[in-house]
Amino acid sequence: ELTVDTGARGTKVSPNLYGVFYEDINHAADGGLYAELVQNRSFEFNSTDERSYTGLTAWTKTERGATATLAVTGEAPLNPNNRNYLRLEVTGEGTAGVSNAGFNRGLPLKAGKRYDLSLWARRADGAPLTVTAEAGTAVLGKATLRVKAGRWARYTGSFVSSGTTDAGRLVVQAPGGRTDLDMVSLFPRDTFKGRENGMRADLATMIADLKPRFLRFPGGCVTNVGTYDPYSLNQDRRRIYQWKETIGPVEERPTNFNFWGYNQSYGIGYYEYFQFAEDIGAEALPVLSVGVNGCGENRPLTDEAKLARWVQDTLDLIEFANGPVTSEWGRKRAELGHPKPFGLDYIGLGNEEIYPEFFANYPKFADAIRARYPSIKIISNSGQTSQGAWFDRMWQFARDQRADLVDEHYYNNPDWFLANNRRYDSYGRSGPQVFVGEYASRGNTFYNALAEASYVTGLERNSDVVELASYAPLLANVDYVDWTPDLIWFDNDEAYGSPSYHVQKLFSTNVGDRVLPSTFEGEARPVDDIKGGVGLGSWNTAVRYDDVKVTAADGTVLLSDDFSAGSAAWTPGRGTWAVQDGAYVQTAQTEDARSTAGSADWSNYTIEATARKISGAEG
Ligand code: AHR
Repeated sequence: ELTVDTGARGTKVSPNLYGVFYEDINHAADGGLYAELVQNRSFEFNSTDERSYTGLTAWTKTERGATATLAVTGEAPLNPNNRNYLRLEVTGEGTAGVSNAGFNRGLPLKAGKRYDLSLWARRADGAPLTVTAEAGTAVLGKATLRVKAGRWARYTGSFVSSGTTDAGRLVVQAPGGRTDLDMVSLFPRDTFKGRENGMRADLATMIADLKPRFLRFPGGCVTNVGTYDPYSLNQDRRRIYQWKETIGPVEERPTNFNFWGYNQSYGIGYYEYFQFAEDIGAEALPVLSVGVNGCGENRPLTDEAKLARWVQDTLDLIEFANGPVTSEWGRKRAELGHPKPFGLDYIGLGNEEIYPEFFANYPKFADAIRARYPSIKIISNSGQTSQGAWFDRMWQFARDQRADLVDEHYYNNPDWFLANNRRYDSYGRSGPQVFVGEYASRGNTFYNALAEASYVTGLERNSDVVELASYAPLLANVDYVDWTPDLIWFDNDEAYGSPSYHVQKLFSTNVGDRVLPSTFEGEARPVDDIKGGVGLGSWNTAVRYDDVKVTAADGTVLLSDDFSAGSAAWTPGRGTWAVQDGAYVQTAQTEDARSTAGSADWSNYTIEATARKISGAEG
């Protein structure tokens, strides 16, 4: 029996409670939300960043009659921020060139849909370049670009695809002679809201469907790990995210080797983030570094002159978002296409810094913002709850600094979420508000979602002090997984929400005005009864399972509890599992339930699995 006290005043629900946290992790941007279909479009992939990279990553030579020599070089580049390009030397009759396989083993193309291509080229003589979209031996689209003799210039074309594929490639062919190529790009015309240089429609729609009130970006660890100098000072190693490097013409944005271990194009930059936030009806909530690293690395910025530039960049960002078109950065925003201010209300300073230098640097940023923009709400951070005494110290510092909000992060097992529903009941109401900027229960099963749903009732009940909350991370490309669990999973042409996605959507699209006190009387069902699912995946390497049984729809036992039948076929994602002392034990991090469940061979089976956890924190 559920009793609701309809006469009580209750708690007013924060109008901004439910938002999203977007980070370029798991290839969330390139090969994900950013609709660009060409990987390594500017030939900037570099083996000094990642050993497996070359300037030709994702590119293959194609010879059709003529022969080609390919070299990635930097002689007289397109501009100082785009240091490398492809030099294609073609000899003989016919044509030769390169093809790009995009992300996830191919380019997705849909019959009847229009695609826009563009590239920068330079040739001594004028010549036609043939660009085709192909799948197997079929040509699905074609455009001819007539390159003029002389300097670098941008050439554009478009085509309507005559077929559908998720394994296409883009082929650029040149006749005899030398052709320099850079920024080879292909976009579907149907980006989200039809924006040029825009977002992939299905993913953006799934995010928009959450009706998020805010968009926290660009990270996470990508905001504050790396070196501080800009690319223009020859910093070609991993740089901390610097917003000014990410606006303006895409060919003038440097790439970066981001914290998550891959090349990041900055095709989605600060202008696109603000535009996207507006397009989905959310407040933009940028997080900036205060010159202190986090995420396991620290080389604090102590040089006062350099720090002053970072403080100024932060003020400039607020002017970029909110300033009039007569201001320097407001004018820049207008030139990029948005004269109206974006209406920035919140700014995050730092992300999980666990170093005392944070206490020295933060006030320089906060004081400068307060002095110039007193109405902006400043969010300090507290790191992860698991950091214990440090977490408390960060909170005290935020109180002393009179921060408007404190950003809390936690990734725990589902049982923690069930046990901590009352976490915020006892939080003081007179200090900073809480921003639960990152949280998730470890796992991506129904049980996780259920535990989170329970937990969110506690956030909502306390939303007089919990002003904002966002699950993390938001996006994961199934072929480039850095972190699980995640809210939305995708490959190059499909996307699905995890059970947690549906919980977030359920709450976020059904927000009440007030939470009234209620009591429930009834028989509590042990949550263990409803645990289950195919996925044994979890982050916890100490979990041990027994009685594992996986059965295909036709009755074939794929894996049995004596670990004999089918055990060779059990290929659980990238995780490592082993039989130890008669139990099935996860010995290293694995992937989501889907990849844990099976290899490609299993895709035609309906799989039923049971497992009994015999020890460890979760199942
Ligand atoms: O959400 C994934 C990572 O978790 C974020 O980048 C970081 O802030 C946290 O440690």
